[in-house]
Amino acid sequence: MSVAAEDTLAAAGRPVATQAAGRAVRWFQRLLPASLTARMALAFGGVAAAVLVAVGTYLACALAAQLEERDENELVSEVLLVRHLLAEVSSEAEVRAGMHRFTDIAMGHEGLILLVRSREGEPLVTLNPRQEQVPPLRVLPVDTAPERSLLQQWHPRNGVPSAGIAALGRLGETDRAVEIVVLRDAGYRSVLMKDYQLHILWATLSGALAAAALGYLLARRGLRSLRRMAGEASAITTSRLATRLDAGRAPTELRDLAGAFNDMLARLQDSFSRLSSFSADLAHDFRTPISNLIGQTQVTLAHARTVEEYEALLESNLEEYERLSRMIENMLFLARADHAQVAMQLRTLDARAELDKVAEYFDAVAAERDVGIRVEGAALVRADQTLLRRAVTNLLDNALRYAPQGSTVTLSAETLAGDAVLRVTNGGAGIPAEALPHVFGRFYRADPARSNSAASTGLGLAIVDSIMRLHGGSACAGSAAGRTVLELRFPSRSRSGGPRGRQRQDQPS
Ligand SMILES: Nc1ncnc2c1ncn2[C@@H]1O[C@H](COP(=O)(O)OP(=O)(O)OP(=O)(O)O)[C@@H](O)[C@H]1O
Ligand SMILES: [Mg+2]
Repeated sequence: MSVAAEDTLAAAGRPVATQAAGRAVRWFQRLLPASLTARMALAFGGVAAAVLVAVGTYLACALAAQLEERDENELVSEVLLVRHLLAEVSSEAEVRAGMHRFTDIAMGHEGLILLVRSREGEPLVTLNPRQEQVPPLRVLPVDTAPERSLLQQWHPRNGVPSAGIAALGRLGETDRAVEIVVLRDAGYRSVLMKDYQLHILWATLSGALAAAALGYLLARRGLRSLRRMAGEASAITTSRLATRLDAGRAPTELRDLAGAFNDMLARLQDSFSRLSSFSADLAHDFRTPISNLIGQTQVTLAHARTVEEYEALLESNLEEYERLSRMIENMLFLARADHAQVAMQLRTLDARAELDKVAEYFDAVAAERDVGIRVEGAALVRADQTLLRRAVTNLLDNALRYAPQGSTVTLSAETLAGDAVLRVTNGGAGIPAEALPHVFGRFYRADPARSNSAASTGLGLAIVDSIMRLHGGSACAGSAAGRTVLELRFPSRSRSGGPRGRQRQDQPS
């Protein structure tokens, strides 16, 4: 099924809201700039705008509440002041005559409307500059003290909800009372708040822009090390694989990245140099059989030859072809093993039986060279049968080749610390100490005389080593006092790491 079809099916199972949210997120992600610096600048600007809007909104609400409270307190104190002034006069005529004393107390209070009128409705003091329609209000009795909770709502012409209060005030010591009406048109507050909100908007916009610009500069500066590292990395070529990034100069966050990159370079350098020397060895080892083929053929073709001579040439050529074919087959195996592409069928095998089998196969060769083969010990080994036999075959092939006439090659098996250990021991000149670390290398021959030998590809022990690595085990060689021991160690099933090869289904034998 195609990826797109799978996506559609997966989407069909999800609720519509989730799908819409997913689409919105993808759309938003497409809108984001590719540059990390630009993204960080946007993020700085966005965060600054959000914070400024939140703080500005809070301050605007707090200011609006404070202004409203102040206005309401002023309405209450206006009533108290007017009552106080009324206590100093004894008639309505005196009120009218001293009107300025009443209007003075309303001075400086924007939007304040003050009316004093007789019980019959006759106006005594009127301060209503905008000629607002005064609504009918519930009038508080003479002995009721005005307070904020007794304020009533009214709507002036501008539609801004405002507050007002009406109360009776006693004239001096008399029984007569007049009606006091105090209203405050809150329109001025709404103008003030709009102005304030505009300031907040400008502050938010310029703050967000400044934060984005600063963020851009800071991000550019912060990402300088990343650009430097990219520059260093882009200067690395196959001829400069030894170069490393300067992790010490990198900031803490990038140090791990630089370290991982350097480790990767080290691995690449190692693989690259092994590959280079492998191809050099490969060219060298292919050259010998091919120049043998060319040389022999040219010499033979230089004159007319007898049928026997042609047959001899073809036989000799066949030997070289077989050598080339063996080399190619071995190299293919090594290449597949390098990529863990060798299919393995791990089974628990009787190591003794496997050694017996390989020994039996070499009986004729051993007899021809006058070398005996002894098999001893016992162990259970978890391995792929074909690969195990191939490894032991390569070891025994070497051992028989180097064992002196009349000697015995020993194959042994034992269990050590849970691991199955197989050894092939032979006598003879042995492997020089300086050659021991290299014998498992590709195309390596400790004995230079074998380099051009048609029987040797120099890949036998390299294949053993690959087989052991596929099993998660190891191979090692030791040679001293005329005894050469090649040892294979197969780990037990419980050991961590495990085999690297591609495994087929387990079939216990
Ligand atoms: N049992 C041994 N005794 C002495 N020398 C050994 C023994 N096994 C390996 N060597 C040395 O290690 C070298 C590498 O062995 P390896 O099996 O990889 O290659 P080879 O035997 O030369 O070629 P091939 O196995 O491909 O025919 C040999 O050339 C030999 O010099
Ligand atoms: Mg060999």
